[in-house]
Amino acid sequence: AKEQRHEFVIQEAAVTRLCNMRSIVTANGQFPGPAVEVNEGDSLVVTVVNNATYNVTIHWHGVRQMRTGWSDGPEFVTQCPIRPGGSYTYRFTVAGQEGTLWWHAHSSWLRATVYGALIVRPRDPVPYPFDFHGELAPIMLGEWWDMNPIDVIRTATRTGAAPNVSDAITVNGQPGDLYNCSSQDTAVFPVKSGETNLLRFINAALNTELFVSLAGHTMTVVGADASYLKPYNATVIVLGPGQTTDVLVTFDQPPGRYYLAARAYASAQGVPFDNTTTTDDTATVTTFTTSLRNLHSVGLPSAVDEDLFFTVGVGLFNCSSGQNCGGPNNTRFAASINNASFVLPSTVSILQAHYQGDAAATGVFTTDFPANPPVQFDYTAQNVSRALWQPVPGTKVYKLKYGSVVQIVLQGTNIFAGENHPIHTHGYDFFILAEGFGNFDAATDTAKFNLDDPPMRNTVGVPVNGWAVIRFVADNPGVWLMHCHLDVHITWGLAMAFLVEDGVGELQSLGAPPPDLPIC
Ligand code: C2O
Repeated sequence: AKEQRHEFVIQEAAVTRLCNMRSIVTANGQFPGPAVEVNEGDSLVVTVVNNATYNVTIHWHGVRQMRTGWSDGPEFVTQCPIRPGGSYTYRFTVAGQEGTLWWHAHSSWLRATVYGALIVRPRDPVPYPFDFHGELAPIMLGEWWDMNPIDVIRTATRTGAAPNVSDAITVNGQPGDLYNCSSQDTAVFPVKSGETNLLRFINAALNTELFVSLAGHTMTVVGADASYLKPYNATVIVLGPGQTTDVLVTFDQPPGRYYLAARAYASAQGVPFDNTTTTDDTATVTTFTTSLRNLHSVGLPSAVDEDLFFTVGVGLFNCSSGQNCGGPNNTRFAASINNASFVLPSTVSILQAHYQGDAAATGVFTTDFPANPPVQFDYTAQNVSRALWQPVPGTKVYKLKYGSVVQIVLQGTNIFAGENHPIHTHGYDFFILAEGFGNFDAATDTAKFNLDDPPMRNTVGVPVNGWAVIRFVADNPGVWLMHCHLDVHITWGLAMAFLVEDGVGELQSLGAPPPDLPIC
């Protein structure tokens, strides 16, 4: 295993897309940002220098960060943002994971343009568990706005309304020749006829779940979120924001050009969508996600120490006088887990506040995150009274004992509109035991759990008006965010944090904060 050093200079760059030149925030002037390639077991030392006019942090999406929580990156959770003119060095090891991960800004909506691939190859001489001739450059799916995305979300936050949707889906930053003015802005991947290649897909879009197909070709899925899967043949794959999927493709068709195309999956019920660019094909999503199996039998611990039930959904705040009430029927959009709408601190990160001791933590966060929903009813019913389900804003964390086996039923709700939510955990991969529609019913649904070869992921799409059950061992001390990876939902509060103590004495095994950790 080796140590690699990188420098990311966050800086603005002029980029033209869809006939429109904008100054965007980039890493090293590149869009998408530089790909980082490691072998399993390598250490990374990445110095981020902020030469832009926005605060920034970088998150290493899917990296376990075992006892390196100071390098995880979400702003105000594990660190204060790097101010313009400042810098911070992230130090961590990528161990026990192989496949495709990525990195992205974790500050406001900066990740719209500040993101890149993080490829983890087996260490020498460990072979891949499949055969292929070569691999393509990582395929990063994203979104392009004709406006500055930071302004888009700032405006929405001020008015309480939903933000504008993006103007294009992109492949490696390029809209492709089906959009206006984009014939030159098309990502092209040269391949050799007859060869089998490894393709690494990353959904880096802010708010769009995607179907992806390759004209005339079948894809064999072999991994997702840097964990291997039993080979599964698909003509369309599904990725929520945050998810990655590795596939093998044999280019067995006559030489020529074949479209690689993505289409938005718009699952929100009761919300009108443009059917020419989106589809609500939930059946295809279900077939795909329920077909994925871990390559190995996983030996899952069967006794559960923490049996949690989290509702995830979009709701509405009543609007008080003096506020802009741009949401439906004079409200403001909100989102929550168990009715708790997450608010980031602003003066210190949660991890720092906790490390400094409970006294310092007072007023920064509370440990009363509700492990179960406060009200039981039909979560998938439409038109539930708002009075019954009005989110409570706060910075609430849930404490987990080091080493405990944690199971979470993630239950989608339809308080305002049901939708598939890609729920992501920091600091942990989890096994997906089962998913289904309607309200989770322990009496019957527990029998459906796959305890033998469940896929291991860091992001799970909780089915629209349905549920998914995940399990993990809380073996990583720190403060770890869990949130919907649709950025508009994080902005609205669809997040919470786990505080995992280390079994030694609070967080002592994490070590002291690095001397260059930014202060707020
Ligand atoms: Cu891609 Cu909070 O993460």
